[in-house]
Formats: sequence, structure tokens, C-alpha cells
Amino acid sequence: MTAEEAKKLPTIDDLDVGGQRVLVRCDLNVPLDDGRISDDMRIRASVRSLRALLDGGARLAVCSHLGRPKGDVVEDLRLAPIGLRLGELLEQDVVAVPDVTGPAAREACASDAQIVLLENLRFDPREEKNDPGFAAELAALAQAFVNDAFGSSHRAHASVVGVTKLLPSAAGYLLAEEVEKLERLLHDPERPFVAVLGGAKVSDKLGVIVHLIERVDAICVGGAMAFTLLVARGKGVGRSLVERDRVDEVREVLERAEAAGVEVLLPTDVVAATAPEEGADYQEVPLAEIGDRLGVDIGPDTGKRFGDVVRGAKTVVWNGPMGIFEIDAFAKGTLAVAEAIADATRTGAYTVVGGGDSSAALTKLGKDDEVSHVSTGGGASLELLEGKELPGIAALRQGRGR
Ligand code: 3PG
Ligand code: MG
Repeated sequence: MTAEEAKKLPTIDDLDVGGQRVLVRCDLNVPLDDGRISDDMRIRASVRSLRALLDGGARLAVCSHLGRPKGDVVEDLRLAPIGLRLGELLEQDVVAVPDVTGPAAREACASDAQIVLLENLRFDPREEKNDPGFAAELAALAQAFVNDAFGSSHRAHASVVGVTKLLPSAAGYLLAEEVEKLERLLHDPERPFVAVLGGAKVSDKLGVIVHLIERVDAICVGGAMAFTLLVARGKGVGRSLVERDRVDEVREVLERAEAAGVEVLLPTDVVAATAPEEGADYQEVPLAEIGDRLGVDIGPDTGKRFGDVVRGAKTVVWNGPMGIFEIDAFAKGTLAVAEAIADATRTGAYTVVGGGDSSAALTKLGKDDEVSHVSTGGGASLELLEGKELPGIAALRQGRGR
């Protein structure tokens, strides 16, 4: 095996699935609003591999987690409603069983049922512990394994890692595509390469910033995380959210960026509100005039500055909204970035949006088909951009599918 081959992920095309039951790990962890699926992107993204496996003559045992039930059965986190939506999309019956690897799951998987959906994997405390006994119970339900759960591949859990030791294993098309599209950002991106980062916490994104410093020409930072960077640069930010314990670390990272010649653009004006809530009083002001209010969005000048930088780029990666975009009054900065990224895409830039919130923002703004790639992964896409090898992907490279 050459080094190149060793790096290549085995995919569905390398598996012989005819007549077999295939355990498919999907990431069907979708946002729910009062029990209703508020964004079915991850379910839709899972259809391609499932369809291909069915067309190849396989029967399926689909599995996923939903939320964080932490080893207990939580009624609101059952997978049956997700199964209904999946069935609609596949135009086929989905048999949702009420247990994960118990008698109902075993019986359904031994039957002719074409698509069985196991119960929420995290109802079993052994899933998150990557327990070998649980992996063996999952593996016993099928004859082959496909991991298509890109969004969960940064978790070394039994259904992601453990089962690959026990069954012939391969990546689904979604997983393989995500890896290819995201790795393209890290390997030889066309310049200028601009990263736009937002969201609440800088601590989630420091690893990404550090890894991207070597690669990008500019980083635009918005969202609440920008306030910690502004404090590190000695600015006043009123009552905005700041991670005080990260300020020193952030200052060091800013110095590294400067030394590497990477421009770090921060907000110069903000939407200042009396509270981070719908209906609160707010005003667009220069940062220096924030007073005792808190920043809930980047201001129009900053939006324009970020937009200009993005429009001039040949490669763009965006993760995290610029403000509290769920509230219309605080969504303008996120909209400005989304529009600039769509414009850049139209003029030939390679643009990737990752993270649950930024892809939800893009969907809300109706721009999800105007960028090169929208990742289904939040934490997973961040870890990949940090240069980390994701446990689920490493397991497929070493697993029985090779
Ligand atoms: C996600 O939504 O980030 C993935 O589904 C993984 O979920 P987790 O963060 O609860 O492990
Ligand atoms: Mg997560």
C-alpha cells in the first residue's frame, strides 16, 4: 500500500453489501423546537448513502444519537419522529424500534425490514464510553458498517470507533465529501484566503485560529467572541460577554498572527443593546460609545469592512454568526457576511460554511445553496480545521474495511 492509498478512506464503493444488513451511523442530531424538527439538513444529507446502499441490495440498521441524554432514556429524545422524516425522504417505511441493541432491535434487524432505525444511541451509557461490549452488540446486528456521521466523527464513541474493529467498515458519501471539502481548505488554498469566525465563545475557536494563522491572509472576527479579542487589544466593551480567563492567551495568539502577517479584523462599531433579548432597546454605535450596554451584533461599518475583505478573497471559510441572528434586529451583521460569501462564490471563490449556527443562519437567510459547501458538522468541522485527526475517520483508515 502506498502512502497515498493509506490516506484514502474506504468508501461504500469498496464494500460488498448485496444481501447484507449494514449498520449505518448517521448524524441525525437535528434541532427540535417543541418536538418539531426545525432544520432537517442533516437528515436530508444522510439520504444519498442510504439510497445507494438500498440500491446495492443492502438492508439497513440506521443509528444515531439525538441530544445529550447522558445514558438515560429521555422520552423527548426518542428517534421515532426522525424516522418519520427519514421515511418521507426515502419514500420507504422506516421501522423505528424502541431499544438500541435490545430484543426489539435484534428482532427487527433479523427480519426482512429494509430500514430499521435503532433507538437513540446515547440512551445507553456504554455508547459514549466506547464500551467494547456495546460495540459488539451493535456489530452483531449487521454484517458491515458504514460511518456517514461526519458531525459525530470527533467523538470516540462505540458507534463511531468501536464497531470499526468488528465489522468490514467504510465511510459513507457524506463523510467522505465533508473530509474532502474541508481538507481542501487546509491544503494549498487559493489566495487570498479569508476566515470569518463568530459565535459566543473564543475558547471554542482558539485552536482553529492558531492552525489557520499559518494558512490565511486575514481573519474577520465577530460574534460575542470578538469582545474577548477586543479586550486583549485594550478596548472597552461595556457589559459584552468576555472570557476574562482567556485574555492573556488571546493576546499571545494576536501577537502570533501579527508576526505571521495575518490581518485580524475586529468590530469597530456594534449593535449595543440593553439586554441580549428580543424587544430590548438597541442602537448602532461606534465601539467606543457602547457605554454600559452589550454588543449583540457587529455594526454596519464593520459588516461592510468584513464584506469587502470577503469579496476580495479566492477562498473563504466561515464558522459562527456575527450576532444573535435568531433575533431579526440583531441579524444584519450575519446577513452582511452571508451576502458577501454568496457574492464571492458567484465570482469564483471556494467558500465553505461550517458549524450548526452559521449553517442555520445561511438557511434562514435562504443562502444555503449559494456557497460551495455547507458542512453538517459543528465541532467536527472545527476540529478538522484545527488540524486534528478525527477519531471516527482514523478508525476507518485502520479498520477492517482496509
Ligand atoms: C453535534 O451536533 O455537534 C454533533 O451531533 C455531535 O453532538 P455532541 O456535540 O453532543 O457530541
Ligand atoms: Mg457539538
